[in-house]
Amino acid sequence: MPTEKIPAIAWQFAERARRLQGSVIREILKIAVRPEVISFAGGLPSPDTFPVARMQAAFDKVLSASGRIALQYGPTDGYLPLREWVANSLSIPGTTIAPEQVLMTSGSQQALDLIGKVLIDEGSKVLVETPSYLGALQAFSVYGPEFVSLPGDEGGLLPEAVASVGAGARLLYALPNFQNPTGRTLSLERRLALVDTCARLGLPLIEDDPYGALSYRAAPLPKMLTMHPDGVVYMGSFSKTLTPGIRLGYVVAPLPLVRKLELAKQAADLHTATLTQMVVYEVVKDGFLDTHIPTIRALYAERCATMLAALTSFFPAGVTWTQPEGGMFIWVTLPAHIDSTQLLDQAIAQNVAFVPGAPFYATNPVRNTLRLSFVTVTPERIREGIEKLGKLIAAQC
Ligand SMILES: Cc1ncc(COP(=O)(O)O)c(C=O)c1O
Repeated sequence: MPTEKIPAIAWQFAERARRLQGSVIREILKIAVRPEVISFAGGLPSPDTFPVARMQAAFDKVLSASGRIALQYGPTDGYLPLREWVANSLSIPGTTIAPEQVLMTSGSQQALDLIGKVLIDEGSKVLVETPSYLGALQAFSVYGPEFVSLPGDEGGLLPEAVASVGAGARLLYALPNFQNPTGRTLSLERRLALVDTCARLGLPLIEDDPYGALSYRAAPLPKMLTMHPDGVVYMGSFSKTLTPGIRLGYVVAPLPLVRKLELAKQAADLHTATLTQMVVYEVVKDGFLDTHIPTIRALYAERCATMLAALTSFFPAGVTWTQPEGGMFIWVTLPAHIDSTQLLDQAIAQNVAFVPGAPFYATNPVRNTLRLSFVTVTPERIREGIEKLGKLIAAQC
């Protein structure tokens, strides 16, 4: 290297790099991992549910029986037996999903990015729920859309609101089951109405469904994909039913779109790891999830009930919250004058963490809201954490 001083590079970032924003949740999680912190912040599944021995046996089997295939490059669209399994699991009498419609992705988060890449231009209108999944807002934001927030209530988004704003939009992003962040579920009537409205408008309806299998009580409501497979793009994931560390999800789309998504994926990472796809196929192919998922549901249902009871006992009048029927989240609305970001600072000082609601809004953040996740915390710690939070809130009421 020459001895004279070399100037530091003045990085010229691309416009889209300027739109990249860190996730608030990841920042909070850095604090929340401290063992003394009771964290309701993460969106992480409980590691108690990970089928470690089963995965280990499957890794051993795949590597010893088919190591030369499992460790080789593979096709971009994914491991065919697993794509067939996904297609079969989504097909119902009268509606067949073809394996050609399935693209395996590196988590369903990658599917969000690929959808953004092939459907969103700068300034494109993108319709989202109020509030919506922060990771989707992050993924789509890179492509510079104009977000339109759709009104909703505890029963999910209001389909009648779509007709007036949907014309010319590129997509509608919906979370029908135990939504992240609110835990709410879209009723059957609203699903039918939403599918119908989007079909009439020629508007692609994105159905993001990582929590659909985690229903505590009733059988899950029909997927919108099965109501209109030519207009609905469905995203699923093994993160909440097996483990998130394997990074395996999928997107199911009509053929013209799935081929574009495949090309976008090819450019991004060639394909999702063959080894993990083969291992997951080995784990799920003989019906393991039919016995495994009920154990996850039972654990989450118990922790959800514990948190709901604690909220009733310890939160003051004037605070409301959702009553999820599945999934991992409860959404709390505080009295209007309390800003949950400020409350978080006070809570962390008392070793309790949650996620403030504002980042989940694409437009017009509502600051007196927050998200609580109950699945990784023991019942005793849930009660302790909610009691502390309740005292902090009561002091401001
Ligand atoms: C609604 C929603 N969609 C997508 C994802 C991404 O999941 P993964 O990439 O692990 O499949 C998450 C993760 O928490 C989520 O909550």
